[in-house]
Amino acid sequence: MDDDPTILEVVGALLSRHGHEVVGTGSGLKGAQFLRSEHFDLAVVDLMLPDLSGLELARQGVAKPDTVVVVLSGSTSVETALQAVKMGIYDYVPKPFRAEALEATLLRAIEKSQLNQENKRLREQIQGQRPGPHMVGRSDVWQNLQTLLRRVAPSPSTVLITGPSGTGKELAARTIHQWSLRAEGPFVPIHCGAIPENLLEDELFGHVRGAYTDARTDRPGRFQQADGGTLFLDEIGTMPMNLQVKLLRVIQEREFTPLGSTRTQKADFRLLAATNENLEDLVEQKRFREDLFYRLNVIPVHLQPLREHPQDIPVLVAHFLKKFARELDLPLKQVEPAALQALEAYAWPGNVRELENAVERAMALGSDPERLLLQDLPASVAGVLPTVTFPRLAQDQDLGRFLEDLERHLILESLQETGWNKSETARRLGLRRTTLLHRLRALGIPLDPMAEARASLAGEAP
Ligand SMILES: Nc1ncnc2c1ncn2[C@@H]1O[C@H](COP(=O)(O)OP(=O)(O)OP(=O)(O)O)[C@@H](O)[C@H]1O
Ligand SMILES: [Mg+2]
Repeated sequence: MDDDPTILEVVGALLSRHGHEVVGTGSGLKGAQFLRSEHFDLAVVDLMLPDLSGLELARQGVAKPDTVVVVLSGSTSVETALQAVKMGIYDYVPKPFRAEALEATLLRAIEKSQLNQENKRLREQIQGQRPGPHMVGRSDVWQNLQTLLRRVAPSPSTVLITGPSGTGKELAARTIHQWSLRAEGPFVPIHCGAIPENLLEDELFGHVRGAYTDARTDRPGRFQQADGGTLFLDEIGTMPMNLQVKLLRVIQEREFTPLGSTRTQKADFRLLAATNENLEDLVEQKRFREDLFYRLNVIPVHLQPLREHPQDIPVLVAHFLKKFARELDLPLKQVEPAALQALEAYAWPGNVRELENAVERAMALGSDPERLLLQDLPASVAGVLPTVTFPRLAQDQDLGRFLEDLERHLILESLQETGWNKSETARRLGLRRTTLLHRLRALGIPLDPMAEARASLAGEAP
């Protein structure tokens, strides 16, 4: 892009000679339009243009992924050249130049651009092969969920994922995408709750340059980004009514109009939505459109709270231990039986996310390098087990009561060490198992505190 026709000709001839396709223009605005509408490996920009600052044009070139920019200029100051270099252009060629020197620079620039693209492609291929984050578990609840996700993944239908917070709704959405025919396409999540209304509309629909004061360039929205892939609308229950109407139209027509544009665009995306609210209640309260609800709820997928499938806790704990050992660069730890018992007994109101945080915290702060201890867990979790404190003989205390406390202490300690394994506890204390069970009853020690804790916590839960 140069306002001097001879230079346009020279650059054009040089590049065509090497088999490259070239388009040229003397207008900066036209150049910007080229950049917007097509992919170029290389943009050669003169800093002196009649209608648009060459620097601005170079900036637009640099902003395009995979486009390499070379700047030409005659009478510009060193500062301008420096500015262009700082912006991330590939090279700067001062005029007058020798054709061979320019040729060498341009060919190197194209090679660099193609190399970048090749690297990016390889990286994506490798990432595509690596299994992404996945759901682990072994309970019936988990198995049924996996079966359902496998069944719905290949279908193009909209899926509404519901469940309390932290149960894995976003992970389920990613899993559906990974198992779908669109796995090679983009997965585009958007958290509807985290973004103010006007920005959310801009995020979803995108805008054209000049749509409003700050819209200096065209910006594609999430609908467009998700073309060929999956759009995941998270926390859909928080979407403002006004936007719900617009979203409904997009879902029905599969078409949308970017802000400030007069042209409708098509986007081919699979829609997934998630919420931890009860949308039917919101519909009743007139905070969610009924027609949108039915459009979204084509295939419902509901995630159960973790307390409904505690059988998955050991697998999840092992999974998170490995994950954080890797992330925090620590050796892998074993979980001491008492800690695992507490983890299994706790009701996890914050579900898998809370469990994940508890394991991360214990890994980061735990004192024992090899074992995750009960004391490393948050007090609320560790507290579900009966506490073991060494009894002291108080003044005037009945000796019989004290001996009972001491016995209770020794038995509880042993029970916790063995993960409440009664046979093993009996062996360690040198008692027969039946004697131990008898003593447990006499001392008021629960036979299975985990089951009791779980039952009482589940009863309290909403
Ligand atoms: N079955 C599972 N296996 C492994 N990790 C899981 C599983 N379920 C959830 N997680 C992890 O738990 C965390 C919370 O999951 P996610 O963010 O998907 O939950 P959510 O339901 O979207 O929560 P919120 O309602 O709070 O947004 C994530 O780090 C996720 O990877
Ligand atoms: Mg979520």
